[in-house]
Amino acid sequence: MSDSTVKEEIKNDDKKKVVLSGIRATGNLHLGNYYGALNKFVRMQDDYDCRYFVADLHALTTHPDPKMLHENVKDIISEYLAAGLDPDKNTIYVQSDIPEISEMYLLMNMHVGIGELMRTASFKDKARKALGIHSDSDEIEKEIIGNQTNQRVNAGLLTYPTLMAVDILIHHADLVPVGKDQEQHLELTRRFARRFNSFYKTNYFGEPVNFNFGGQAVKVPGLDGSGKMGKSEGNCIYLIDDEKTLRKKVMRAVTDEGPKEPNQEVSEPIRNLFTLMELVSTPDTLEHFKNAYADCSIRYGDLKKQLAEDILKVTLPIRERIIDIRSNEEYLGRVVKQGAEAARETAAKTLKDVREIMGIRKFY
Ligand code: TRP
Repeated sequence: MSDSTVKEEIKNDDKKKVVLSGIRATGNLHLGNYYGALNKFVRMQDDYDCRYFVADLHALTTHPDPKMLHENVKDIISEYLAAGLDPDKNTIYVQSDIPEISEMYLLMNMHVGIGELMRTASFKDKARKALGIHSDSDEIEKEIIGNQTNQRVNAGLLTYPTLMAVDILIHHADLVPVGKDQEQHLELTRRFARRFNSFYKTNYFGEPVNFNFGGQAVKVPGLDGSGKMGKSEGNCIYLIDDEKTLRKKVMRAVTDEGPKEPNQEVSEPIRNLFTLMELVSTPDTLEHFKNAYADCSIRYGDLKKQLAEDILKVTLPIRERIIDIRSNEEYLGRVVKQGAEAARETAAKTLKDVREIMGIRKFY
């Protein structure tokens, strides 16, 4: 069997579950994305029918600089590939390359209530920030309606969950690996699917569920002492960080005053450094520093130096591949074109069905 026949077989094997996930085109990927998502995606690529995309339409909700949007898309595609996603095993595409998504988004919006959208946590958060409001949810709804011209609280932001539901449903995805912050969007997706089904008396859409390949979700902490690594938190180690930047960030990570007595409870900032170490270092190294903490001989400088060293072992090879891939426009073009063709095949079929179910017919 030739290589390409094998690939065809994998694609045609309809027993494989469809996995789908996307990342908004708003900045580079970090260590949290890597351990929380990318590195699991790579391990899934043989056993599932995986589709990964860059959500550039979703990025528009927060008005990126038009000169930068395409660069951001390019970054993420390059980072997907550099992390090890094989474009021949996965469907890798750019959301805006699939016009069927935009059309189905319009259709799906007819079955989505503005009330439920306004109550979505991510919308309220973003609206609150945009309007500079600190009060609770009841006020925010009035504020939004009163604030007629604030385009930062735009209809695209409100209907963000519709677009995300369409991303998922247009592929009839079974499994959607996303973090906790996206759980509500996934819940809405299931709700829209059920509503569509019951309105049109069909069982056309299934209900996608969250998916953590290999058990528990990995929570990658940031360097600022508390919370998880996130691009809006400013506490990230990016896969593209160069050696000097990365070392500097790690050396500046928040710590505490050090243990005062043996076997003292570990504070959150130090626990976070241990958690990072657990991801990148050998068990022996981790053990060494935990013991040093327990007997109060630990020097945080040494801990950080070792941590930076071990992170670099993971990220530097990826960084080199990102730079390499990113400069190869021809290759990137081929990858996303191949991905778009595959994605459009499914998307066109779903859209055709949805139009038919909703009663849209052509005269000619
Ligand atoms: N909303 C997701 C995020 O911000 C990105 C996203 C858009 C997505 N469409 C999706 C994730 C579909 C999974 C499936 O992280």
